[in-house]
Amino acid sequence: MTQIVMHSFAKALGSRKITNDDLSRMMETSDEWITQRTGIKSRFWAEPGIGSSDLAVDATRESFKQSGTDHVDAIIAATLSPDHYFPGIGVLIQTKLGLKNIPAFDIRQQCSGFLYGIQMAHSLIKSGTYKRILLVGSEVHSTGLDISTRGRDLAVLFGDGAGSCIIEEATTAPTNTTRFEIIDSELHSDGADARELWCELPGSVHFTSAITPDEFQHGAVFPKMNGRRVFENAVKRMTEVCNSLLSKNNIKSEQVSHFIPHQANTRINEMVANLLQISPERCFNTIQNYGNTTAATIPIGFTDAISSNRFKSQEFVLSAAFGSGFTWGSAIFKVV
Ligand code: COA
Repeated sequence: MTQIVMHSFAKALGSRKITNDDLSRMMETSDEWITQRTGIKSRFWAEPGIGSSDLAVDATRESFKQSGTDHVDAIIAATLSPDHYFPGIGVLIQTKLGLKNIPAFDIRQQCSGFLYGIQMAHSLIKSGTYKRILLVGSEVHSTGLDISTRGRDLAVLFGDGAGSCIIEEATTAPTNTTRFEIIDSELHSDGADARELWCELPGSVHFTSAITPDEFQHGAVFPKMNGRRVFENAVKRMTEVCNSLLSKNNIKSEQVSHFIPHQANTRINEMVANLLQISPERCFNTIQNYGNTTAATIPIGFTDAISSNRFKSQEFVLSAAFGSGFTWGSAIFKVV
C-alpha cells in the first residue's frame, strides 16, 4: 500500500517573548495563577505589522530548506487569525513564496485545523490529485486579544507562532529528515457549541460598518470562552476520538511511544493521557514555552520533539486536538 509521509517540520515564533510577569504588568493576573491553571510560563508575540501569513512563510522556508526543494503542488493553510477578513492566508503565502499559480486552501477549524489539514492532504495525495503538499498552521493572536483585566481569561492563554511540514509519498520524500507515515485520522465537529468559544464580530451577520461604539466598548470584537465547558469537552472528546482511532487500527495505547497533542492547557493533556493510559513522559508538551498557538501547536510540537531526538524508527505517534466549533480529531502515525 502507498505510504504517505509528513516530513521537514519547522516552526516560526513571534519575536517578542512575553512572560507571565510581563502580563501581570498589563492586567490583574499573576505567574502563580497562570502556571497553576494552565502550565504556561511564556508566549511569543509578533511585532506590529506581522501577520499569520508572515510567520507561515518563515516556517515554510525552513521546511523547504530541509526538504531540498520548494516545489509543491498545493498549499493547505490553517488559521483562525487570517491577516485580513478575506482573502485567506493561503494565497498570501503562495505569492510571498513565489509559488506560481498553485492552488491554496484555507481551513478554519481553529485548534483542530492542522489535523483537518493532515486528513485533507492525505486524501488528496492518495487520490492522485497532488503529489506534494505544503501544510502550514499559523496564528497571530496578540493583535486580536483583549489585553486587559477584562480579557485576562483568554489573553494569558494564547501566543503567536507557525508550524509547517511537507506531505507526499514516501518514495519521493527525502530520507535525511524524520518521516512520519500517516496511518489514519478521524475528525468530528458539533456546531451546537459554536458560541462557547467564539469571536462574534466582525462577521457577515453583522458587518464591521454596523458595529456600534457600544459593542466595540463592550468587547464584542474580542474572543469569548466558557472555559469550564471547553475544558470538560476537550478532555472527553480528545479521549473518545483517540480510543476510537486506536481501536479502528488495532493499536493499543501502550504501543503509542509519543503523544503529541494540541496545547490548550497542560491539565487537559495530563487528564487525556491518563485516561488513555499513556504515561506522562510519553506526552510531549510545549505550552509552557509558547502558550496556545492554535493551528500551529501540533507542527510546533513535532518540530521540537524532532530537535530533541525523541523518535526511533517504527514507533507509533498519536496526536489529538479540540477547539472552537466545537471541532476535534486525532491522527496516528508511524516513524519510518
Ligand atoms: N488571572 C487571574 N485570575 C483570572 C484570570 C487570570 N488570567 N482569568 C480568570 N481569572 C479568575 C476568574 O475571574 C475567576 O475569578 P472568580 O472566582 O472571582 O470569579 C477565577 O479566576 C477562576 O476562574 P475559572 O474560569 O473558574 O478558572 P478555571 O479553573 O476554569 O481555569 C481556564 C480557567 C481558562 C484556564 C480553564 O477553564 C481552561 O483551560 N479552559 C479550557 C481552555 C481552552 O482549552 N481554550 C482553548 C481551546 S482550544
